Amino acid sequence: MDISITVIDKNEESVVMELPTDMSLKLMEVLKGEGYPILATCGGMALCATCHVQVLAGYENLAEAQDQELDMLDTIPNLTDTSRLACQIPVNENLNGAVIKVLAEDNI
Ligand code: FES
Repeated sequence: MDISITVIDKNEESVVMELPTDMSLKLMEVLKGEGYPILATCGGMALCATCHVQVLAGYENLAEAQDQELDMLDTIPNLTDTSRLACQIPVNENLNGAVIKVLAEDNI
């Protein structure tokens, strides 16, 4: 199935994206592929924090962050209550309807 998410950039411009759930994608890969300023220098291992996003809606639907992600989030200066690392968020039905703000650039 396809899901729909809304992505907001640092200029508050929002885009609605339809994403397939059957390609084992991570949110980081989608955002990077769409040209958002995500370096992903660790390749999606929750080690660089350059894929930092704030989940403005739908945060409670996502699987909980694991220790590695939580440790990395702790190092981020502009951490929010609903911050996540996009490389740790699979594109699946849990993400449907989510609103994601890309905060990555502020952290580079
Ligand atoms: S890509 Fe490095 S922490 Fe997500």
